[in-house]
Amino acid sequence: MAEKDVLKIGMLGLGTVGSGVLQILTQNGEEIRQKLGTRLEVKRIAVRDTKKLRPVTVDPELLTDQADHVIDDPEIDIIVEVMGGVDGARAAITRALENGKYVVTANKDLMAQHGVELLAIAKNQGKNIYYEASVGGGIPLVRPLKQCLAANRILKLMGIINGTTNYILTQMSCAGKEFSEALAEAQAQGFAEADPSSDVEGRDASYKLAILASLAFSSKIEMSDIYVEGISDVKLRDIRYAQELGYAVKLLAVGEEGSDGLKLRVHPTLIPLKHPLASVANEFNAIFLEGDAVGEVMFFGRGAGSLPTGSAICADIIEAARSIKHQVENGIVEATFVTKRVVPFVNQSSRFYLRLKVKDEPGVFAKLATAFGDARVSLDMIIQKRSDAETAEIVLVTHGVGEGNFAVAIAALKEMDAVRSINSILRVIE
Ligand SMILES: NC(=O)c1ccc[n+]([C@@H]2O[C@H](COP(=O)([O-])OP(=O)(O)OC[C@H]3O[C@@H](n4cnc5c(N)ncnc54)[C@H](OP(=O)(O)O)[C@@H]3O)[C@@H](O)[C@H]2O)c1
Repeated sequence: MAEKDVLKIGMLGLGTVGSGVLQILTQNGEEIRQKLGTRLEVKRIAVRDTKKLRPVTVDPELLTDQADHVIDDPEIDIIVEVMGGVDGARAAITRALENGKYVVTANKDLMAQHGVELLAIAKNQGKNIYYEASVGGGIPLVRPLKQCLAANRILKLMGIINGTTNYILTQMSCAGKEFSEALAEAQAQGFAEADPSSDVEGRDASYKLAILASLAFSSKIEMSDIYVEGISDVKLRDIRYAQELGYAVKLLAVGEEGSDGLKLRVHPTLIPLKHPLASVANEFNAIFLEGDAVGEVMFFGRGAGSLPTGSAICADIIEAARSIKHQVENGIVEATFVTKRVVPFVNQSSRFYLRLKVKDEPGVFAKLATAFGDARVSLDMIIQKRSDAETAEIVLVTHGVGEGNFAVAIAALKEMDAVRSINSILRVIE
């Protein structure tokens, strides 16, 4: 078959990410043509409203409000799905693959929940789906895991993979703002959506962890395999106390593979100030990986935004174009995903930070120590922070203990007459 000198792209969506893609393909079109030896041309773009004012220059003739006109166009080689949502995007990508097209997507919600199914359809069609932009925006992660680190057994991955929550936590720790004020600031700066729930409740990070963990551990991951806790209950006071103890508070996504199985979780975490992830500030993302051969590797950059995410999408378009040009079936063939055992969260262990209020009277420390001892929870430090006429505020940090044992200790504390309130529970990683 003669090599095409132009490959045609169809886009589904021209919002934040789609505009970045179009801008890069336009501005760097010649650079890309030189690298690829083929010109890339955007032939058609589906949007909801063709009359809407766009932040990027676009020929109105390219726009349609009928996604099918893009997906079913026989001249289009590569479909770029940047419209978001799950059901519509799943149907559109399935049909695009069945029409023999390569697909590029930034859709983490979709890939986390239906990635295995869509990759299987792609494989059956002799095509591929590329999804570098779905995790870490502009930071290369999917391809390094599939290619550069492929010879390693990945022991652990740990990352800040949600820029919104990292911006909020940075505002709290550096500017002394409470959560609601820091969230309002993030919304004003465009780092948080009007409905921030997916970000602040940790769901966005859990989708990204599912994608990363499936690649790192070559396993199918169900969303129910991941323990998820967001940052909306993190208080400025805990961030201050954590700093005094030598820790930063970050929303971490953690995946580990041990002899007992996979452990997957997203939660606010106290991490030592000297750890490289502790200094990752504002909207930036960073992912720390440990491979048995390579050792520790860290990736850092912008995890979202029009041009950073567009950069990852355009790299995927170029990869798809190379596969088409060189007639490589499936492009780089996907890893085979088995289903590995997942350790239930209650059987995992952690260190804990706990802040509580107790009656300010003699013997309370001893009662607390007994309740923890009975639940086989051993304490590393216990500090009295403040007190008024009647109550004392206590901060304590445990050694590594089982989640189940810690829950038993908390249940016992709640029954104690001397315990006024349990104000905060956070996990600690060394
Ligand atoms: N924003 C980021 O920084 C970022 C980073 C990484 C990944 N992502 C992912 O990238 C995807 C797109 O995000 P975004 O922020 O660019 O979203 P967005 O700004 O809301 O843009 C969505 C675009 O899709 C179009 N659209 C929506 N439903 C459609 C439909 N049924 N048919 C045709 N067009 C439709 C919209 O048309 P109108 O413009 O006419 O409304 C809009 O152009 C999502 O999956 C998101 O999770 C985003």
